[in-house]
Amino acid sequence: MSERPYVIDRMISAKAIAARIESLCGEIQDEFAGTDKLVVVGLLRGSFVFIADLVRELDLPIEVDFLEASSYGDGMVSSREVRILKDLRGAIEGRDVLVVEDIVDTGYTMQHVIRLLKGRKPSKLRTIALLDKPSKREVEVKADWTGFEIPDEFVVGYGIDYAQRNRNLPYIGKVRFT
Ligand code: IMP
Ligand code: MG
Repeated sequence: MSERPYVIDRMISAKAIAARIESLCGEIQDEFAGTDKLVVVGLLRGSFVFIADLVRELDLPIEVDFLEASSYGDGMVSSREVRILKDLRGAIEGRDVLVVEDIVDTGYTMQHVIRLLKGRKPSKLRTIALLDKPSKREVEVKADWTGFEIPDEFVVGYGIDYAQRNRNLPYIGKVRFT
């Protein structure tokens, strides 16, 4: 899958990501002010770095849970068919929930997850995506908060992979085949 040689061009620095998270957390805190205990739900695996930085900036009582949905396999194209590979550990009925996603691309994953979780009757459900590729959208969905809008490029780093690689890069870069 990843035999074609490529280089990674730096796109969003670790510093820019940190600054953006700080300002988003101000807005999230306002939205959830007074919440009993917010359930922050990370979508595995791409959001694991983002959620780690996000929750450490949030001055709110929180719980962390994870959901694994898969639409990409190891390739670069969405399969459009979303499967739940790992469900939440906890119940969310009557709870405030924040879903944390790495990228909204075609939108199928986010749409599927929102429908699934809304069916469990949370008291409030909000979504945040680090990256958004609006030009790739196939279903109408938008995260309540977005870190950065990016063009139609395949990106890696800061938790995001290409064929399971490059998740550990501290910045976001775009894949360029050579
Ligand atoms: P969607 O269902 O097409 O919106 O796909 C969303 C998921 O596809 C994200 O959670 C990512 O895991 C993955 N994805 C979308 N774009 C990229 C990319 O540029 N690099 C790596 N993964 C991506
Ligand atoms: Mg993902």
